[in-house]
Amino acid sequence: MDFWKGAFVSLRHTKHYFRAVFLIIGALFAFFIVRAFLLPGSFGEFGYYRGDNVAEQMAKPVRFAAREACADCHGDIWKTHQSGSHAPVQCQNCHDALAVHFDVEKGEFIGKMPIQRTSKLCLRCHDDLPSRPDGFPKIDLEDHLKDIPDAHKPEVCFQCHQPHSPKIGDQGPVTRDQ
Ligand code: HEC
Ligand code: HEC
Ligand code: HEC
Ligand code: HEC
Repeated sequence: MDFWKGAFVSLRHTKHYFRAVFLIIGALFAFFIVRAFLLPGSFGEFGYYRGDNVAEQMAKPVRFAAREACADCHGDIWKTHQSGSHAPVQCQNCHDALAVHFDVEKGEFIGKMPIQRTSKLCLRCHDDLPSRPDGFPKIDLEDHLKDIPDAHKPEVCFQCHQPHSPKIGDQGPVTRDQ
């Protein structure tokens, strides 16, 4: 008698299981249908990634040139730069992409290359941030400029450093009207 009672009770509970399983299957169905609509066609072509993006990026016009691109027209600066401590720093890193200045394919000038003549440019790389490696030349701004009356001026670094060859003692004359 007890056996039948137990079987009846467990059968009554299986109804709940069926409902739960039904709901999970329904949710999975809904998920796969929505997913099929939302996923771009090229997804998965190269792994977990939208494959078409590669072609889209390649179709963009090239803005930056090889580091030698400035050498032909700015030979003197190129030589100073290559022989100084800023040789590893690309011209375009401090100025801008060649594309704003000169169109190589058409052989045409586009516009003026920007010059950022402020300490902000230098501090982008030389500020004493804890994340910078120990061997890298960093300055504590206040300490470095403590004896200089013009310390607040934006172009203060250029009183002593030539951007194309900044190590003291290496550089030629500091450019422009200092
Ligand atoms: C096809 C030749 C040519 C190429 C390539 C070229 N330049 Fe120039 N650039 C010029 C000429 C010409 C001037 C204007 C002459 C002048 O004012 O001294 C100039 C001017 C400049 C100026 C001064 C702008 C100003 O306001 O006085 C900068 C800075 C400059 N170029 C940087 C670069 C950099 C960086 C590159 C490489 C990414 C480059 N140039 C590539 C020919 C070139
Ligand atoms: C560390 C940053 C930096 C790098 C790297 C750099 N420049 Fe400059 N450049 C400057 C600054 C700042 C000035 C303004 C200097 C001044 O007026 O005293 C300048 C000025 C110039 C000028 C115009 C004035 C002049 O001195 O004739 C030209 C042209 C130029 N740079 C070209 C180049 C080229 C070509 C390269 C790569 C070989 C290069 N620069 C690399 C920061 C940089
Ligand atoms: C894009 C990053 C970058 C910018 C911007 C930059 N520098 Fe540098 N600087 C470097 C690198 C990289 C070196 C070489 C470091 C090395 O040799 O380990 C260097 C070296 C130097 C050195 C030589 C240090 C030594 O004793 O060997 C001086 C001085 C210097 N920079 C000053 C300046 C000044 C002034 C400016 C602003 C006109 C400037 N830098 C802008 C990256 C930069
Ligand atoms: C009055 C001259 C003067 C001015 C202005 C000046 N410096 Fe210097 N700087 C020096 C001298 C001299 C040295 C070399 C001796 C030393 O390390 O203190 C030097 C060294 C450096 C070094 C190399 C530090 C190292 O550890 O090797 C960097 C980077 C530097 N300066 C960046 C700058 C920046 C950025 C500015 C502008 C905010 C600036 N300097 C302004 C004179 C100056």
